[in-house]
This record gives sequence, structure tokens and C-alpha cells, in this order.
Amino acid sequence: MDQIPKHIAIIMDGNGRWAKERGKARTKGHFEGVKRVRDIAIYAKEKGVKCLTLYAFSTENWKRPTTEVSYLMSLPKYFFGTYMEEIMANDIKIEMIGERKNIPIAALEIFDKAIENSKHNKSMILNFAMNYGAIDEINEGIKKYTNEVLKGQRENDLKGDEFSAYLFTSSLPKVDLMIRTSGEKRLSNFLLYQLAYSELYFTDVYWPDFDHKEFDLALDDYKKRQRRYGGIDES
Ligand code: FPP
Repeated sequence: MDQIPKHIAIIMDGNGRWAKERGKARTKGHFEGVKRVRDIAIYAKEKGVKCLTLYAFSTENWKRPTTEVSYLMSLPKYFFGTYMEEIMANDIKIEMIGERKNIPIAALEIFDKAIENSKHNKSMILNFAMNYGAIDEINEGIKKYTNEVLKGQRENDLKGDEFSAYLFTSSLPKVDLMIRTSGEKRLSNFLLYQLAYSELYFTDVYWPDFDHKEFDLALDDYKKRQRRYGGIDES
């Protein structure tokens, strides 16, 4: 087993509780969370991770008060405005998965520019899941697949994990490790198909407190695990 996971996916949870415990507004927690996105992305790249997918906004997050939704949608502007130079210096390629519809145009334009400017970078992909929901993603994939079959472009002979080609993550490596911060032990509609064989790591630490040391703990835990994909350990 590779010691360093190639693809890590993170549910960055606990921003609101982090802020509440400090008597601050929830948005302060998100603001601190953005700084961790920068820190962990650069650290993951230094550790040799090839792809980092972050759950930045779920299809369920629209249910939050409009002020919080607007704040979350303003974060790409702050993030890329503040850190794009460092992202380029670290040879990090930006990508985005999720449904573009409903994301404000201003945020989309900022993402598109970052994606375009970093498209030749090779050290690590930093993939933002924005307006992402795995159930919607699977529904869309089923529609694409069915259309191809109905048009006679392919046989109705799907096997193994071939369906992964119909998901937003089709060009990305398999997810080796999923981390969720803040003590919740749910997948919350995140990468449901892609996590079929992934290692899952849950920590009580809130995302704004998830620093290099906490990331190392997750990597150490991953290294200790044996992934057998349902087979037997032959070592
Ligand atoms: C969950 O915490 C966190 C989010 C819904 C937002 C996460 C987004 C970021 C950290 C920044 C994204 C950055 C960019 C550039 C788009 P919560 O609010 O649900 O916390 P709680 O469960 O304690 O209330």
C-alpha cells in the first residue's frame, strides 16, 4: 500500500461550532476555515498528495440563512485573491466539481479564472466541491449513461466500477482517504460512489483547528491500515 494517499477528500466541518465556542459569528468560523484550506493544501502537496478534494458547499447548504450563504459564496473571491500567487508558486492546479447552476456568476468567474490560470500546474490538484451533492451527481451520471445506451453509443453492459466515468470525478484518481472533522460520523451526501473502498478518518477537531499536526495524525492512521478491497492480506 502506498504510504501517502494519492487522493484525500475532506469534509471541513465544525466552523460554526468553533465560532460559537469563542462567542463569535458563524462567518468568523468560515473565515478561519479558509485559512486552513490554504495551509492544508500546501502541506498536502509538500507531503506528496496528488489530489485534495474539499467539500466547500453542499447542495444542502442552500437551506442556511441567506446571509451565511452569501458569505460562503464570497469566500472564493477572498481565497483566490489572497492565495493565488502561492497556489501558482506551489504548482497546484485548481478544479471544481458540482452543479454550476445557482452558484452566483461572480463566484463562478473567479473559479473559472483560477482553473484557467492553473491548468498547466502538475504537483497537486486542489478540487473544490461547490454546490455538490453525491445523489444529484449519481442521478446525472445515470441520465448520461442511459442516453448513450438509448442512442446506441454503448451497450447496456456496465460492469465493475465503470460507472465512475459518468461522475464529476471521472478524471481524478480513486479517493484513498476521506477525513471528516468536528466529530460527526456521516458522509452527508459526499462522494458516495467514490468512497466505496476508501479509508475513513474521523476526528473531533473542528476544521479551523485542523493544522499540520492534525493532518499528520490522519496520515499516520492511514499508514497503519491495510487495504484489502474485500480480499485477504497476503503479506
Ligand atoms: C461546515 O461547517 C463548513 C462549511 C459549510 C463551509 C466550508 C467552507 C470552507 C471552510 C471554505 C471554502 C473555501 C473556498 C475557497 C470555497 P459548519 O458551518 O456546518 O459548522 P457547524 O457544523 O459547526 O455549524
